[in-house]
Amino acid sequence: MKGFIFDLDGVIVDTAKYHFLAWKKLATQIGVGFTIEDNERLKGVSRARSLDIILELGDITATDEQKQQWMTQKNEEYLGYVSRMGTEEVLPGVLPALHFLRENGGKIALGSASKNARLILEKTGIMPLFDAVVDGNDVSAAKPDPEVFVLAAAQIGVPQGDCTVFEDSVAGIEAANSAGMVSVGIGEAETLKDADHVFPGFAAVAPETLLSLSVKH
Ligand code: BG6
Ligand code: MG
Repeated sequence: MKGFIFDLDGVIVDTAKYHFLAWKKLATQIGVGFTIEDNERLKGVSRARSLDIILELGDITATDEQKQQWMTQKNEEYLGYVSRMGTEEVLPGVLPALHFLRENGGKIALGSASKNARLILEKTGIMPLFDAVVDGNDVSAAKPDPEVFVLAAAQIGVPQGDCTVFEDSVAGIEAANSAGMVSVGIGEAETLKDADHVFPGFAAVAPETLLSLSVKH
């Protein structure tokens, strides 16, 4: 049996734009210049680490209590965008891929850094397509640590070597590689150069092909 582990943000839905708007609002409030280019560094990275990157950009130090308050504020803003999400936000080709892999005996798991992952799966109506969900609430070490994928493989009962991971972030590809899984980059080959395979998106690959991808790293 094969396992297929999907990252959420940037693979299933394009939430980076909402994360950006929410972080941008906070950054502006605390006087930090934060650009869409800077936002690239936050992809795949935990909420706490994302805030630290923004504070580093502005050369700001803060107490843990202050940081906690800023993270809550950013998340409330982000949830405003999430509350308006629906099935139409699932990226092209993702639904056919999920259905095909399930129908062909694959076990499907989510492996995301986000603490909002379950909510987003509910809002987009795709929760029933997952056999297991592992997210930012379940792990202690963030990507590039492989913990999230190791846990996902265990939950679907598939050996790590028989799992394929779909990821848009450099940290996520590194995590998949260190777990001995097939790493499939969703994005640009130049950025995701350590991935075993790279596709610009699920619309660019036949679902049949996804079943037969193998490790070449
Ligand atoms: C990842 C995103 O999936 O989740 C990151 O790529 C984000 O940009 C991280 O910071 C944590 O998300 P959340 O929803 O818990 O703040
Ligand atoms: Mg991602």
